[in-house]
Amino acid sequence: MTILVTGGAGYIGSHTVAELISRGENVVVVDNLVTGHRSAVSAAARFYEGDIRDASFLNRVFAENEIEAVIHFAASSLVGESVSNPLKYYDNNLLGTFSLVSAMAGHGVNKIVFSSTAATYGEPERVPIEETAPTRPESPYGETKLAMENLFRWCDQAYGIKFVSLRYFNACGAHPDGTIGEDHTPESHLIPIILQVPLGQREQIGIFGDDYRTEDGTCIRDYIHVMDLADAHLLALAYLRAGNSSDIFNLGSGTGFSVKQVIELAREVTGHPIPAAVSPRRAGDPAVLIASSGKAQQVLEWKPRYNDLKTIIETAWNWHKEHPQGYGD
Ligand code: UFG
Repeated sequence: MTILVTGGAGYIGSHTVAELISRGENVVVVDNLVTGHRSAVSAAARFYEGDIRDASFLNRVFAENEIEAVIHFAASSLVGESVSNPLKYYDNNLLGTFSLVSAMAGHGVNKIVFSSTAATYGEPERVPIEETAPTRPESPYGETKLAMENLFRWCDQAYGIKFVSLRYFNACGAHPDGTIGEDHTPESHLIPIILQVPLGQREQIGIFGDDYRTEDGTCIRDYIHVMDLADAHLLALAYLRAGNSSDIFNLGSGTGFSVKQVIELAREVTGHPIPAAVSPRRAGDPAVLIASSGKAQQVLEWKPRYNDLKTIIETAWNWHKEHPQGYGD
C-alpha cells in the first residue's frame, strides 16, 4: 500500500516525505513544481509532475498506484498574496481539494491528513489558542483552508472519508542531515529572511512594527521545527489507520518568541551582528500567536523534539549556509 503526498516537493511536504521513507513507507508524490522543488523529493519516492486540479491526471495516479491514504500539502500559502489575489486561492486551494477528494471518493480511498494553519483562527481572543477557539480567518488563505476542513467534514459524513487536520503555527528549521530545507521565492518568512543578512544577500532585517502590546513591542509567534511537523503527520496517519474518528489538532511548541528575540538568537547562531531596523507594521499581523498543542500531545502522542529555538535556527542556518541559493532551480 502507498501513501500519496500532494505538494511533496514543498517545504513541509518534502520533510514529511523524507520521514515517511525513513520509516519504510511506500510514497508517491504529486507536485506541479510551481513552488516546489524536484530535487527536494527523496529519490525513493515515485514522482508525478502535475496539478491536482487536473482530474484525468489525478485519476491516472490513483489508477497506477494502490493508494491507502493521502497527505495533502498542495496549496498556495501566502497570506498577503491571498488578500490581493483571492481567486487564485479559491482556485488552487479549494478547487484543488475538491478535485483530490473527488478522486479519493472515486477510488475508494478513505483517509486524509491535511496541512492546515493557525490562520484559520484569525486574531485570537486568548492565547494559547485551543482547537475549540472561534475560527474567524482574516485572509482568503485562512478562509480557504477552513473551507477545505469543512469540505472534509461533510465528506466524512457522506462518504466515510476520515481526516486529520493539522493546524500549524510557524514552521521553521531544516532536516538535521542538511540535505533539504526551506526555499521560497520570494521568501517572506522571518527566519530565512534574517539568515539572508549573514549570507550577504541583504543589508539588514526590517522589523515589522515595535509598538505591539508585547514586552519588547514586537510580534510574538510560536516557532515549530519542520521535522516535528513531519512527525505529527506520521502520527496522524497511524491514528487514522487505527480506525479513529476525524479530528483537528494544533501543532506548535506552546512557547512564544518575539521578532527581536528571534533576531538575537540568529546573531548567536551565526556570529554575525545582523543589523535590524524598525519598519511599519505589516497589515494583518496579530500581536501574539501561540498554540496549545496539548491535544496533539495527548491524543496523537506527539512529542516535539526540537524545543529549543536556538537549535531550530542552527538547523536552518546549516541548510542556508550550504545552499545559499536554495535548490538552485
Ligand atoms: N517579520 C518581520 N520582518 C520580516 C518578516 C517577518 O518583522 O521581514 C515578522 C512578522 O511581522 C511576524 C513574524 O515576523 O510578526 C513572523 O512572520 P512570518 O511571515 O515568518 O510568519 P507569520 O506569523 O506571518 O505566518 C505564519 C505562517 C502562515 C500562517 C500565519 C498565521 O507562515 O502560513 O502564520 O497563522 F498563515
